[in-house]
Amino acid sequence: MKVSVSKAAVHLQKVDAVVFLVLKTLRKQRVAEIESLAGQSADAIDVDFKAAEGEVAVLYPQSGNGQSNGKAVSAKRIFLVGLGEKPSLDTFRKAASAAATKAKELKLAKVAFDLSDVADYAKQLSESASYLSQATTEGFLHGAYEFQMLKTDRVEAMKQGKKTTGEKKHEITELMILTDAKSFETVQHGAEVGEIIGTSQSMVRDLINQPSNYIDAVSLANAAKKSGKAHGFAVTVFDKKKITALGMGGLLGVNRGSAIPPTFSILDYKPARTNGKALPTIAIVGKGVTFDTGGISLKPADNMGDMKSDMSGAADVIGAVEVAARLKLPMRVIGIIPSTDNKTGPDAQNPGDILTTYAGITVEVDNTDAEGRLILADGLTYVKEQYNPDVIIDLATLTGACVVALGNPAAGLFSNNDDVAEQIFKAGMRSGEKVWRMPMWDDYDKQIKSDVADVKNTGGRGAGAITAAKFLEKFIGDHKAWAHIDIAGPAFASMSGSTARGSSGFGVRLLAELMRNWN
Ligand code: BES
Ligand code: MN
Ligand code: ZN
Repeated sequence: MKVSVSKAAVHLQKVDAVVFLVLKTLRKQRVAEIESLAGQSADAIDVDFKAAEGEVAVLYPQSGNGQSNGKAVSAKRIFLVGLGEKPSLDTFRKAASAAATKAKELKLAKVAFDLSDVADYAKQLSESASYLSQATTEGFLHGAYEFQMLKTDRVEAMKQGKKTTGEKKHEITELMILTDAKSFETVQHGAEVGEIIGTSQSMVRDLINQPSNYIDAVSLANAAKKSGKAHGFAVTVFDKKKITALGMGGLLGVNRGSAIPPTFSILDYKPARTNGKALPTIAIVGKGVTFDTGGISLKPADNMGDMKSDMSGAADVIGAVEVAARLKLPMRVIGIIPSTDNKTGPDAQNPGDILTTYAGITVEVDNTDAEGRLILADGLTYVKEQYNPDVIIDLATLTGACVVALGNPAAGLFSNNDDVAEQIFKAGMRSGEKVWRMPMWDDYDKQIKSDVADVKNTGGRGAGAITAAKFLEKFIGDHKAWAHIDIAGPAFASMSGSTARGSSGFGVRLLAELMRNWN
């Protein structure tokens, strides 16, 4: 999709739809304005359209019928999108996303988005016009996203003389943001940032939505390399031999049931010029389980296919390092991805097995389905020892318990550092990818005590998300700034019928916001 910003008048745009935002409090006034632009009564809309947050109404203007001064809109459709009563930054994302979803449903190509009032909105929200434009662009790209990669295109196939039952693939080709001359530059800047974050998020969603016969430990590492090549950061991939030599017993234990070797990828972004300044180093570790069957502690069949998304944390790592490189952020970002699937092959590890991790800590594998923490353990210790970063953040679809606690709207946050936790919480509120902090009191330690090893990979029925975090904490040594984000709830929507089924890309905007404001 081409994203552009223009100072041209709204009514001149020959597009498939032009989008107008409507505050609930100004609904009457706005509908009247639209009526004069459309050259027709909007009574039908006036009755039902309440301008609730993300509500969309579509109007079909009669060409040539517009205002007497010749200001009829040239667009085929007018979208009115509600902002609700008290919009926040994320309201703009939701509104733009709803507009894009509607455009997708109607199979439209070109959409113009009216942000001529952006300065007023910015003032009202105490935000910059640039950030509103960024959020609008991010939201639009998020709503426009569709996982079509593995659908055959009927028209393309016919051209090549092949038969297929596929449909013609659809894509929104253009988003044109319209604003006034005064706000032009700041809106343009925001749209550029939003486009970078939004398109990297779409790349991440494509990785997550691809099933396990497309994305395995090797192809996931290749995806990291491909991004590094395209955007200018280094990627090193350790193979099974190297992983074995390093003694990464957690990753190797989980990999035992698999026919595909594990990988351990290191993504390393540094800005080209540092001007002699010391840069902060942010490390991000992501769970890269390309499919989680549960292993010998096998999962039930229902919705097991969703476990293709168990590498969402890893995909977020690729996305975040990519965003840092594309935005040329003044920091070093190290991304770490331990990756394997969790399978039941003849040599699969058994419950009760004891692993020796990279840290030297022994782990009783009480349940082979608690595999994420085993591979993350090696990633966390490795990055702490080799890079001693200023902060270590891990993202993982780690526990069903976290989904029970917080559902889909928010990720669980666990940290040994109040300042880091606060920064991540704030980034969540601004990016719309919300996190909620949970406790890590020592009281929970006894649940993961093992009789036969240093620690056990399960913690019993209560506080499953917390005991998982307590397990990870053992592997960061004496590091004083670590945070774990359990994204099992928000990463992937399994509900059928919802247009947003599949990966949400949750984590990319959160990390982008965190890195951009890091101190
Ligand atoms: N990948 C799952 C967690 C998960 C569940 C993610 C639902 C997304 C949706 C993880 O590896 C897992 O199986 N965790 C177990 C841990 C338990 C055996 C201690 C769980 O949550 O049941
Ligand atoms: Mn599991
Ligand atoms: Zn898992």
